[in-house]
Amino acid sequence: MESAALTRWTKKDLIGIRELNREEIEIILDTTPQFLAVSQRVSGIKKVPLLQGRLVVNWFHEPSTRTRTSFELAAKRLSADTLSITASSSSTVKGETLHDTLANIEAMSTDIIVLRHGCSGAPHILAADHSSHIINAGDGRHEHPTQALLDAFTMREALRKLHGNPALNLDNLKVALIGDIEHSRVARSNIHTLTRLGANVTVCGPATLLPRGVEKLGVTRTTDLREALKNANVIYALRIQRERQASALFPSIREYVKLFRIDRESLRFAPDHAIVMHPGPINRDLELSTDVADGPQSVILEQVTNGVAVRMTVMHLLANSGTSRIT
Ligand code: CP
Repeated sequence: MESAALTRWTKKDLIGIRELNREEIEIILDTTPQFLAVSQRVSGIKKVPLLQGRLVVNWFHEPSTRTRTSFELAAKRLSADTLSITASSSSTVKGETLHDTLANIEAMSTDIIVLRHGCSGAPHILAADHSSHIINAGDGRHEHPTQALLDAFTMREALRKLHGNPALNLDNLKVALIGDIEHSRVARSNIHTLTRLGANVTVCGPATLLPRGVEKLGVTRTTDLREALKNANVIYALRIQRERQASALFPSIREYVKLFRIDRESLRFAPDHAIVMHPGPINRDLELSTDVADGPQSVILEQVTNGVAVRMTVMHLLANSGTSRIT
């Protein structure tokens, strides 16, 4: 494994993309192909010993399929030992604070804590006081940094393949984020990542699901799907997060489908080469029709494949670059 990236990496934790600059994002994206190659070995062991003897704890306070299994597999492919803790099986249900729980876990010599939590800021609070490397696996509506990194990597791979140019970056790429921007940590992390990488981002959805002042993040805002899809290289459908909506924020599912669903009909407004993405889990036929989700423009399963390699990269950089100081 090439080690130049390790000497350039300075962060102890990965809390959000907001704290990363373009160079740091590119270190992650440029290191990921080495780990993708490990996962894609056709003969030989799909493992490297870069975290041998280290302990990675997956600590999930919210449900997850992709992120939890992806981190677990990434840790195993780096030869780490792994533990899983869920909210219902931990002593937080008996009133223990997150700090106390983590202090007790750390007494067993942990190296990396992967935390998903419903409260925005929970990983940040723990990172400031604990020596383990903390990785945010999604906190409330705030950020989901590894999702955005795997998304950017997937977009870059698709762009390079389309143009037959392995040096292309995301500068001037047109990305349309469609749907529930207001409640989406995925949207927030993607906006930070893509704008730092020079892409042009348009957010589109019902006015009630577009955060007030979102333009200040450097994006274009529209409620017109046709306008958002025009010239888009990437169409990124977001999940309608019914569990985070306090009240109905659009009149009916039928109306949302008619105005904002990505389906065969709305895809006619986008270029043929546009790729379709979604972070999962999909509400099939609500924000994305089944034929498009499973169709030739969809790279949704590539996102999942790339996620393991991106998370291997992140854990390698955090744990092997010598950045153990609490900042
Ligand atoms: N994309 C994502 O975070 O999916 P999970 O909730 O299944 O982890």
